[in-house]
Amino acid sequence: MRRKVIAGNWKMNMLPNEAINFIEELTPLVSDTKNEVILCVPYTDLFYSLLNVQGTNIKIGAQNMHWEEKGAYTGEVSAQMLKSIGVEYVIIGHSERRQYFNETDETVNKKVKTAFKHELKPIVCVGETLEQREAGKAEEIITNQTEKALEGLTDEQVQNTIIAYEPIWAIGTGKTATSEDANNAIKAIRDKICQIYGQNVGKSIIIQYGGSVKSANCKELFTTSDIDGGLVGGASLDPEEFAKIINYDK
Ligand code: 13P
Repeated sequence: MRRKVIAGNWKMNMLPNEAINFIEELTPLVSDTKNEVILCVPYTDLFYSLLNVQGTNIKIGAQNMHWEEKGAYTGEVSAQMLKSIGVEYVIIGHSERRQYFNETDETVNKKVKTAFKHELKPIVCVGETLEQREAGKAEEIITNQTEKALEGLTDEQVQNTIIAYEPIWAIGTGKTATSEDANNAIKAIRDKICQIYGQNVGKSIIIQYGGSVKSANCKELFTTSDIDGGLVGGASLDPEEFAKIINYDK
């Protein structure tokens, strides 16, 4: 049985004092869940968040990193920098980064490789636009993005990657994919991974759904055959709402 992984993506929200208060409120609400809990916070919140989750079951992730080891890349943050302060996860290739910051399948793949080199676990985002969906191309787009993101990784690395299927039209719009559509898309991604890396890897990799996940719709999504939890944006900014999503199975 695959575990469920519920990750919050705060995007460009929350000051350090807000992060500290949030973690203080969230901790007792999720302390007895068997689901994995991750908060992906802005760089400026990482250190405070890491200090404040000590002794809890909450893990911390970053939202991006550069693929180069070090050097003249003003404004960038390296994998080693994240690892050195205790970060465990890193989101790679979020659609907002692909859309506004020129991330491509190629840079996503480079970043995934560098993340593993420094023992960070990548959460790789894939997802189609509305036009692509309406043209019947969703499956082709997301399986291609997945294949390219994972190119050149070992079976073990693929097994330790988390994929987040986030249809772009469902992000921040209040429109959620139906649980059936989301499950089918995720199943297509899983089948592709089985085809390339074998059943063992494909059946054990964690694949989340993201896009307007909230307490009102999470149970239906997370109890399907192939959805292994969620990557939650807006609803992860409120500790009570986020806790309800983490505790969807209570
Ligand atoms: P929303 O949950 O706000 O739609 O955002 C989803 C997302 O982009 C998470 O990475």
